[in-house]
Amino acid sequence: MAGRGQLEILKRCYMEKDRFSLSWIKMRENYDIKSRSDLLQNQYKKDKSFFKNIIDLGSGNGSFLRYCHKKKLIFDKMVLLDYDPKLLRNFYATTYKYLGGSKYSLLKINPTRYELKKKDVIKAESIRLINANILESLDILDKYDLISLSAISDILPISFIKKFLNNIGKNKIIYLSICFDGDIKWHIKHRYDKYIISMFNRNQEADKGSGYAIGSKSIKLIKEYCIKNKYTVAIKDSSWRLNSYNDENKKFQRMYLDTIYRPLKNDNTTDKDMLLEWKKVKLKEIMAGKSKVTVGHKDILIET
Ligand SMILES: C[S@@+](CC[C@H](N)C(=O)[O-])C[C@H]1O[C@@H](n2cnc3c(N)ncnc32)[C@H](O)[C@@H]1O
Repeated sequence: MAGRGQLEILKRCYMEKDRFSLSWIKMRENYDIKSRSDLLQNQYKKDKSFFKNIIDLGSGNGSFLRYCHKKKLIFDKMVLLDYDPKLLRNFYATTYKYLGGSKYSLLKINPTRYELKKKDVIKAESIRLINANILESLDILDKYDLISLSAISDILPISFIKKFLNNIGKNKIIYLSICFDGDIKWHIKHRYDKYIISMFNRNQEADKGSGYAIGSKSIKLIKEYCIKNKYTVAIKDSSWRLNSYNDENKKFQRMYLDTIYRPLKNDNTTDKDMLLEWKKVKLKEIMAGKSKVTVGHKDILIET
């Protein structure tokens, strides 16, 4: 039998495996930017005061911050929090490149503090990186006016979502964008689509080291907790609509296919013959430029 120390190591290895590759995080940014609904922009038009002090939980390399910049959602301070130091470390290089040739510059004060400002303007947006686990960060959340979670609601444990929504203070905005809703629709149907999607959704709810993930039920459960707490909640579609017309889209669809195939390949309850045949056909359709798929996502904006 494994001792406590060995179990901790096994758990950590499992969590490591579950981390996101930088190439996937970078690749999905364009698709996420195009897919987000206008919920946050409408909130900004209605009341900018929520944009003073923002925290982005599970920030990756800062995709949400760049989205705010692109949409001219100006903030005073933004914290990017993630437990993966490799993604946080990439924030500077990616954002610097993104701003290249524009009127904005990104100043590195130290490895965790940055300033983003328009050239010839004194006021800057200040940015801080925190390398921490969201599950251990509940205590700090009340300091922020706007709490953002992007492409992460389905991988967090149900217990965390419940505690977070039940304990957060009044008069906050919580913006959960690109929440996977479990619905994947291929334009060209395959007889195993239904089976693979159901196995994938089941697999997504497995314990990845920090408790059972909420999975595709996240949207329904979040809405229920909001109603129970008498928060105002708005939900809009933010699905990816992917085609395979050019090399970039082909590459992204192949990567997406892999995010379904990889966990199922290691799942004892999935029929491997069906999985392999399904993957082969999907890959062929992508390479032929014929594959189109809609990956169901929703944006949720909560006012507590
Ligand atoms: C699908 S990625 C989304 C990244 C980013 N929000 C974006 O939209 O590009 C999920 C992110 O959540 C982070 N993450 C997952 N669980 C976490 C946890 N318990 N604590 C901190 N970060 C976590 C991962 O490292 C990864 O960066």
